[in-house]
Amino acid sequence: MKLGPYVLANRLFAAPMAGVTDRPFRRLCKAGGAGYAVSEMVTSRRDLWDSLKTSRRANHDGEEAPIAVQIAGTDALMMAEAAAYNIDRGAQIIDINMGCPAKKVCNKWAGSALMQDEPLALAIVQAVVAACAARGVPVTLKMRTGWAESHKNAVGLARQFEAAGVQMLTVHGRTREQGYKGQAEYDTIAEVKAAVAVPVVANGDITTPEKARDVLACTGADAVMIGRAAQGRPWIFREIGHFLETGTHLAQPLVVEVKRLLLDHLLDHYALYGDFTGVRTARKHIGWYVRVLPGGEAFRARMNRIEDCEAQWRAVSEFFDVLGESMDRMPALAGLAGAAVTVRHADSKKEGELT
Ligand SMILES: Cc1cc2nc3c(=O)[nH]c(=O)nc-3n(C[C@H](O)[C@H](O)[C@H](O)COP(=O)(O)O)c2cc1C
Repeated sequence: MKLGPYVLANRLFAAPMAGVTDRPFRRLCKAGGAGYAVSEMVTSRRDLWDSLKTSRRANHDGEEAPIAVQIAGTDALMMAEAAAYNIDRGAQIIDINMGCPAKKVCNKWAGSALMQDEPLALAIVQAVVAACAARGVPVTLKMRTGWAESHKNAVGLARQFEAAGVQMLTVHGRTREQGYKGQAEYDTIAEVKAAVAVPVVANGDITTPEKARDVLACTGADAVMIGRAAQGRPWIFREIGHFLETGTHLAQPLVVEVKRLLLDHLLDHYALYGDFTGVRTARKHIGWYVRVLPGGEAFRARMNRIEDCEAQWRAVSEFFDVLGESMDRMPALAGLAGAAVTVRHADSKKEGELT
């Protein structure tokens, strides 16, 4: 699949997740077999661009191409400016967020709520496409199936967005109203795929290689995007890719491999966030890696009380050393299906500030 001048390595994409898919995690997903990874959303609010959070998100030092940055907001001009701001900081693809269920910006609802105001949604797309076209940057968009069960308007919007110049559409198979409840449905994604010529990416509840195969088959989508199932398991893309190619399952990674990967992840994480924030924001990642491991829950509780990066890193190292004495390989993916669909918008507490 091509996006502008960029040839994507495969059709397995890492979903944007605020508070999760930062630069270190995107790097891991790509190393773990993802052909493409989208950044956490960056707010269109200029007054927040100098905040530590936004400047971290807009920093792509050393990131592998293509660098895709998601922007979120409710005003067409501000969104166009946000696109330009991120392109100046290295973004090579701009993704518009119409997929996130909550988030209030400037007293208006952003993300998937925009699907409820089609003229505004279209005006945003047109303004962003114009700003990006001037710089030769492709625009993509992520949305849901609609804003309510009785108002599934993804197909009509997809046609309008394509006509406005959007070059790839991702659809999460839930409505805004659903939040993360219930199950993703794929019929609407198939209808979107049938309605447009640009590539369509299917997203929602893809937790196993078999599910990825089935969703690709039933939607006809060009790619699948995986979010929560990659938390603590960034090698899932390689597992799915192997299964799609061969019909067989890859052996689970060795405990020593995961130990090395997680310890490197932590070093990268601390380097980006610094000691104080680093040790705290690393906890959720560590919790995801260990959640299905023997003794994982007790370890997580203990680790959550550690307030120093070095001690946290050492504790993780020792946990995996002890684990390695009783098992060679990580547990199979099937055991994770239930655990992989919990939702926690880690940093979405403050109204008015986009995470
Ligand atoms: C913690 C968290 C943060 C998210 N942040 C974003 C975001 O910033 N932008 C976005 O478009 N979707 C966001 N999403 C939605 C995901 O990209 C994805 O559409 C959703 O989780 C369904 O896919 P999954 O079942 O593979 O997780 C977020 C989801 C989670 C769990």
